[in-house]
Amino acid sequence: MTIALGVLLSGSGSNFQAIADRVLAGELDADICLVVSNKPDAYGLERARSMGIPTACISHRDFPERETFDQELVRTLREAGVQWVALAGFMRILTPAFLTPFAGRVVNIHPALLPACPGIHAQAQQAEYGVRLAGCTVHFVDEKMDHGPIIIQAAVPAFATDNADSLGARILELEHRIYPQALQWIASNRVRLQGRQVIIDGAARSAASAWWTNPPLEPPFTT
Ligand code: GAR
Repeated sequence: MTIALGVLLSGSGSNFQAIADRVLAGELDADICLVVSNKPDAYGLERARSMGIPTACISHRDFPERETFDQELVRTLREAGVQWVALAGFMRILTPAFLTPFAGRVVNIHPALLPACPGIHAQAQQAEYGVRLAGCTVHFVDEKMDHGPIIIQAAVPAFATDNADSLGARILELEHRIYPQALQWIASNRVRLQGRQVIIDGAARSAASAWWTNPPLEPPFTT
């Protein structure tokens, strides 16, 4: 099936671009009905316009309460025929006024291996903490921040020489790979929820013995 997708963003929109590119390539069965930003100057809106994708800007500053902002988002997305919503660098917390109408149909990408480093500046949090494995997560959205069931995660190495920018760039490359993949699993109706566990029908399973360390192990600890 083709999913009628709405994308919400607040900034550069490189994840939106990665999704849209896969749609254009015929690799992701989605119709991007609308791109919405809460910021008028978000570069993501520019990207959408240049691809001929409809856009809307709904500034949260025009709404005294989160709920009324969320209601306007819902109204706008519904009017555009949106069935599924992908948050792509959308920096607002959504309330039940948004999540109830789109229950189970909102996904997000976060630049860390959740549940580590939720919230803002996740790339800086990871670099400053000195993690050895950083990464990104695509997950369903629930009412708690960066909390819902996890669809896919990707790990990248982090080095002592990294800062938020260098680590963030390494993570972002993987974001662009895993987000379209997660959406295509959804579009092909392969994603089911069992409590917090997300089952992806037919997905290959990494060997139980598969693991990765950073730095790599050295002999004799390699065996
Ligand atoms: C991405 O790194 C995304 O994971 C992050 O914002 C960036 C948006 O980049 N999202 C969050 O931190 C959400 N908590 P983009 O606008 O280039 O896609």
